[in-house]
Amino acid sequence: MRLTLLPERVSVDMQPGRSLLESALMASVPLLHSCRGGSCGACRAHWVSGEVDFPQGAGLGLTAEEQAEGQILLCRAHPRSDVVVDVRTLRPAAAVESRHLPCRIEQLELLSPDVLRLRLRLPAIEPFNWSAGQYVDLILPDGTRRAYSLAAPPGEDPRLEIHVARVDGGRVSGTLFAMQAPGALLSVEGPFGGLELPVPTGTAPLLLVAGGTGYAPIRAMLRELAQGAWTRPTRLYFGVRRGADLYADQELRQFERDCPHFRYVPLSEDGAGPPGVRRGRVHAAVLEAEPDYAAADVVVAGPSALVAVMRQELLARGLPAARFYADAFG
Ligand SMILES: Cc1cc2nc3c(=O)[nH]c(=O)nc-3n(C[C@H](O)[C@H](O)[C@H](O)COP(=O)(O)OP(=O)(O)OC[C@H]3O[C@@H](n4cnc5c(N)ncnc54)[C@H](O)[C@@H]3O)c2cc1C
Ligand code: FES
Repeated sequence: MRLTLLPERVSVDMQPGRSLLESALMASVPLLHSCRGGSCGACRAHWVSGEVDFPQGAGLGLTAEEQAEGQILLCRAHPRSDVVVDVRTLRPAAAVESRHLPCRIEQLELLSPDVLRLRLRLPAIEPFNWSAGQYVDLILPDGTRRAYSLAAPPGEDPRLEIHVARVDGGRVSGTLFAMQAPGALLSVEGPFGGLELPVPTGTAPLLLVAGGTGYAPIRAMLRELAQGAWTRPTRLYFGVRRGADLYADQELRQFERDCPHFRYVPLSEDGAGPPGVRRGRVHAAVLEAEPDYAAADVVVAGPSALVAVMRQELLARGLPAARFYADAFG
């Protein structure tokens, strides 16, 4: 079975039992994607012809209207015949060239009781490029791998910085939290997927929404914005369950002092946390405080449920799909 991607007319073999996205990525065709789990909407495309099915459902990353227009999520669609779809655009291959490299954990630091920062040293002679908003797969010696967003833009530090949330019973996060000291040898593969950076200049608002360690890719974007011509009024809503997990409070308050067009809104569900924290859930706070989406760009990163609810709600309030950018954690 063949998959043809319009408008470039790129054609690849499809693998039985794999999604259209997986088949394209395995053939090194650089399609936009992020969560691979049907939540973020990044891999959406227009179905043109052929038969597909959705063994795990069509996914929450599309609204009912988008589905009615014939859009599908390539990470959810499996082929039953040759298939033709229209994707928005293929990324330039150089932007997504990924590599598999050994790495050493050089720094291991608890940023809060439930968030661990790792700095990973790659071999000095191996070039590794990424862009703000991308992620890597971290691979344990037994081959178990999980995705983690890069928390700093390229050029700041040759080490890769990732923020890992504690997950009860988590195979990879549990292994990392159990480490008593840096030094372990692991490997990484990437960079992959990731958020696109909205245009940084102009007067239209830029809304950033982070749930927990969803702050990591947003941090990389903010620091990249701060290096260039960034003029847009920007607000970051950063929500966590427990106030103790507002792990970047100090750096974000400093950022507010340094960048007059940036505002930081911390939220915790338990109402605890640093001075100025609001009690509540992050999606509810955004919807209440931001009524006008006519000109805004919105970037959401964090748990899939947060990304899916924000996408549904914001598109229903008039935000164009092309101005919703998301990174969903599975
Ligand atoms: C594109 C992408 C980027 C990501 N970036 C980050 C990041 O920057 N920081 C980060 O901490 N995580 C990130 N994740 C999530 C990460 O890849 C792992 O899923 C997570 O660390 C759990 O892995 P684990 O092996 O510890 O748990 P597993 O052994 O896989 O899961 C153990 C149990 O916890 C549940 N579970 C799995 N993940 C979560 C979760 N996130 N919250 C609550 N319960 C969960 C599972 O359903 C299972 O029941 C990202 C995921 C994706 C797809
Ligand atoms: S990559 Fe398909 S919905 Fe996120």
